[in-house]
Amino acid sequence: MAKDQKGVEDLSEREAGDELERLAQEISRHDVFYHTQDTPEISDSEYDLLSTRNRLIELRFPHLKRKDSPSERVGAPVQGRFPKVRHARVMLSLENAFDDQEVLEFAARVRRFLGLDQDTPVEMTAEPKIDGLSATLRYEKGVLRLGATRGDGREGEDVTQNLKTIGDIPKQLSGTGWPDILEVRGEVFMGKADFEALNVNQLAAGKTPFSNPRNAAAGSLRQLDPGITVTRPLRYYAYGWGEISSWSMQTQREVMSAFEDWGFKLNPLLKLCPQVSGALAHYNTIEKARADLDYDIDGVVYKIDRLDWQKRLGEVSRAPRWAIAHKFPAEKAETILEGVDFQVGRTGALTPVARLTPVTVGGVVVRNATLHNADEIARLGVKIGDRVQIQRAGDVIPQILTVIDSPAGASEIIFPTHCPICNSAVVREGDDVVARCTGGLICEAQRVERLKHFVSRAAFDIEGLGAKQIENFYNEGLVQSPVDIFTLEARDKTSNEKLAEREGWGSQSVSNLFDAIREKRTIAFHRFLYGLGVRHVGETTARLLAINYISADRFLDEMLKLGDTISSASDDLKAIDGIGPKVVDSIADFFGEDHNRKVVAELRREITILDAEVPSEETPIAGKTLVFTGTMQEMTRSEAKARAEAMGARVSSSISARTDFLVAGPGAGSKLKKALDLKVQVLDEKAWLKLTRT
Ligand code: IVH
Repeated sequence: MAKDQKGVEDLSEREAGDELERLAQEISRHDVFYHTQDTPEISDSEYDLLSTRNRLIELRFPHLKRKDSPSERVGAPVQGRFPKVRHARVMLSLENAFDDQEVLEFAARVRRFLGLDQDTPVEMTAEPKIDGLSATLRYEKGVLRLGATRGDGREGEDVTQNLKTIGDIPKQLSGTGWPDILEVRGEVFMGKADFEALNVNQLAAGKTPFSNPRNAAAGSLRQLDPGITVTRPLRYYAYGWGEISSWSMQTQREVMSAFEDWGFKLNPLLKLCPQVSGALAHYNTIEKARADLDYDIDGVVYKIDRLDWQKRLGEVSRAPRWAIAHKFPAEKAETILEGVDFQVGRTGALTPVARLTPVTVGGVVVRNATLHNADEIARLGVKIGDRVQIQRAGDVIPQILTVIDSPAGASEIIFPTHCPICNSAVVREGDDVVARCTGGLICEAQRVERLKHFVSRAAFDIEGLGAKQIENFYNEGLVQSPVDIFTLEARDKTSNEKLAEREGWGSQSVSNLFDAIREKRTIAFHRFLYGLGVRHVGETTARLLAINYISADRFLDEMLKLGDTISSASDDLKAIDGIGPKVVDSIADFFGEDHNRKVVAELRREITILDAEVPSEETPIAGKTLVFTGTMQEMTRSEAKARAEAMGARVSSSISARTDFLVAGPGAGSKLKKALDLKVQVLDEKAWLKLTRT
């Protein structure tokens, strides 16, 4: 976005005409990305900025309005596009397994978690994993009331009207016995033949063809005009559920056949397998049938059949422990390695990225592949100019598999000894495979990447302030450190180069941005912590820390004391079950650095960090700290821990005066003794089960 964009009121007539032409082209390009190819390049609010500017110019110069004006186009996107909806239950994703061994490990994990012996059969369903997009359908008293896309799993887009156009989706449930509230989840997809036919029509109408059936399905579902969606041959298979008011079903298979009775289509290849061996055999059958199926699939999904086991297994990091996707081998292609760029990440890690002669792999054009690190380059023995085989598996970054041919002129890949951005030395510490720029925050790349991380989806997630915008603001000197985001509005007031006067901005869009920033002045503890970008503190660890400390103020005060030998801060941190020495060290490093202390102090002045939410349900162990020791008969330690956490308790690995309960089974030793010394309440397994039985 250029700095010198004129405000609408300052445009001359000629400039206005040029600008309307540019906007018409740009908006239509983004429409294609968003609506047909389903790969938006800019955020919704950036898009709104373009539309608003277009409309304002037209208001000032009505006679310049173009025939192809975006404001006139039928079905032209309106502000904000589809309304957002929060899912009543999170829409989960799946862990992947890439070979039989990983599936066997999944089954073994399930057995271990549930404490089952080898002889207990673990039945599971196996069904194709369709390459479409998931949609949730909410029925109230049998009537379809709301339909939405998955979005980020917590919040999706309300596409009810479009989903209603799909023949496979009942508007009213048939049969009997459905619960008052029923959310059905499944996959929206387009058949291969229908996709080909649609593309013929697209081309005949002078429109861009879709690159694959998945994009065609996504683009068709997200048409703002349901009149267009209805002409698209979309289909729907049900495979799961979200909120349900009540029911008595006991297995996955039972639920699926009830869905069928109520009017849904199920995948004909869905099968109940008594053992994991049978599931693997069914995988082979499906893989053989794959080419003949009239829709795209990219693997097989296994789900533990017993619902009581599903419940006990629960989920971890947004994927259920009771299901797994067994992916088909990745698609491969050959191309030439034209060069290697080195990207500098948030923590200084240098990643070599292969520049490839563009090649289509499984319907997607691939231009880059990751080379991971120097060891990987050495292992492959790859040189610039080589003909290489690459693979692309689902949404994973493409990889180079092997060198096919190395011509005489091929040249070695030289790993830089100095950072390509800040020229600081690049080092590899100990046995770390990663080479890092030692520039820290003098390295512009690291600073920008940190800022991008700060505003990323799982962190502050500020609408209209994405990676691209951050880069622009950084380059223009407007945002150099996280706190600058929150002082932007105040600085803009006194600035003589107002944001609203810049290219691509208008007063409405600026006020939207400031509103969005203001909204995030109050932030959840785990989002704030994740946003700081401490090494090894990902989303899961950030949540774990938040739940353990509850108050961010207390946490931050404690972390600032990590270096003091007399403080117990470090021991308290180590005592949390799931926090290992690597995490403790990197947290200590982070808070030991002056710059980081300053960033945190500045942010604390500008924002309010909410206490971690203890589950609102009153459970007898919510907010309590538990330690487990010894063995248990009824459930494994992992299940006990998962149950405790799900009920709002913190699980610690060592006893202290702050421990509320010690759950002790046979074989308990020093922990039991210490608990008795400290007068911590001790529960045996029976008492624990009684306390937590739901
Ligand atoms: S089950 C909790 N079953 O795969 C279970 N998902 O990687 C959640 N998908 O978002 C999903 N076919 O869009 C399930 N038979 C199937 C599926 C399937 C396709 C997609 C779905 C989901 C994604 C997870």
